[in-house]
Amino acid sequence: MQDPLVQIESNVRGYARLFPAVFNKAVGSTITDMEGNDFIDFFCGAGSLNYGHNNRRAKAALLAYIQADGIQHSLDTVTAAKVDFLEAFKRIILTPRALDYRVQFTGPTGTNAVEAAVKLARKQTQRSHVVAFTNAYHGHSLGALALTGNQFYHSQFYGSHNNVTHLPYDGYMGEYDTSLLLEKMLRDPSSGLPKPAAVILETIQGEGGINVASDRWLQRIASLCQEHDIRLIVDDIQVGNGRSGKFFSFEHAGITPDIVCVSKSIGSGMPMSIVLIRPEIDTWKPGEHTGTFRGNNLAFVSARAVLEYWTEPAFENQIDERSQIVQAKLRAICAKHADHAMSVRGRGLIWGLDLRCGDLASRAIQNAFKEGLLIEGSGAFDQVLKVMPALTIDTALLNQGLQILESAVDAAVANTTHRPSAVPTTVN
Ligand SMILES: Cc1ncc(COP(=O)(O)O)c(C=O)c1O
Repeated sequence: MQDPLVQIESNVRGYARLFPAVFNKAVGSTITDMEGNDFIDFFCGAGSLNYGHNNRRAKAALLAYIQADGIQHSLDTVTAAKVDFLEAFKRIILTPRALDYRVQFTGPTGTNAVEAAVKLARKQTQRSHVVAFTNAYHGHSLGALALTGNQFYHSQFYGSHNNVTHLPYDGYMGEYDTSLLLEKMLRDPSSGLPKPAAVILETIQGEGGINVASDRWLQRIASLCQEHDIRLIVDDIQVGNGRSGKFFSFEHAGITPDIVCVSKSIGSGMPMSIVLIRPEIDTWKPGEHTGTFRGNNLAFVSARAVLEYWTEPAFENQIDERSQIVQAKLRAICAKHADHAMSVRGRGLIWGLDLRCGDLASRAIQNAFKEGLLIEGSGAFDQVLKVMPALTIDTALLNQGLQILESAVDAAVANTTHRPSAVPTTVN
């Protein structure tokens, strides 16, 4: 049941329509509405709740911090909470991975981090063009929107496509290695592609339909960027923070981006974004890129608390164990509905079940919601179910959620006349 007061909210609301309930409480991977209905959460705040709702470690740290009247808002002044976070981030995340980055705090949204990253690359290289990829999603402020592929979010009146060229992502053209196209266009002075300041990419496209770039493709793009003196920006906003099975998603490919955008789950539910910058290219002048909410100390405290998971070697194994459970179930669903030619893609704990039909996926999402599971769609036609449980989900709850998912897909298929030939082919 929707609260009628929702009607004062703008028509722009989206998830409120997908999940028509008034949510009230949440712990771990269970979220409860005002009527006492529990839902298993495979949506995870669009990737912001990798450590679950009200994560126990973050909650304890936050309660203690507030109780002690810790600083809450600080712009970019130095606070004890910020120092604690930075020290822990360097010791737990950067140093063991031999990564040398400076940390820039931006406004709290992912889009804020993307804007800062692209601005810095442009300023530093003194070039304005940027290469992004098909199906990319980098946010909705006008600069970031120019990099986002899906036309649903665009209007000609936003004037937002300036200085950006979209090239085919890995797999977009079947077996063809699309890094060859970038290579050729960079070498050819007549290709029409201005020498870019940056190439920006997601190693796994979350909103774009769970498209996983191969390690080899990422390595080739990284080496092209190096060869042509172009900044490589990895947008790890959705698939960083352990979502891919490692803290940074680019670790699998063994590449070191020049700039990395991190947001969503870094604050374990508290709004926070950072941009990681190779020290040599940190050419900002003091105060040159600002924002009032760069100093959300509650986020620093909760971010610091959940970094502790990364000191425990068992944590990555735990993600892998859950990953195997998800894969097995999704492959079984595909096998059961072989005549629908569904497919499965993903890594770590971000998996896509491509139903090849947006209507079918929408029905499956609605069925799942009725049975107590939150899950969203992604992809150009919203045809891919995005399975994104918390990294910390209990395996019994994970299995229960997957069971609901299977029934939801079964019921959607039973009510459809669509067959693969009648629907758009996958875009990746
Ligand atoms: C890869 C990626 N980049 C950027 C963003 C934008 O983040 P925000 O919605 O916090 O501005 C998102 C959001 O889903 C994302 O998935």
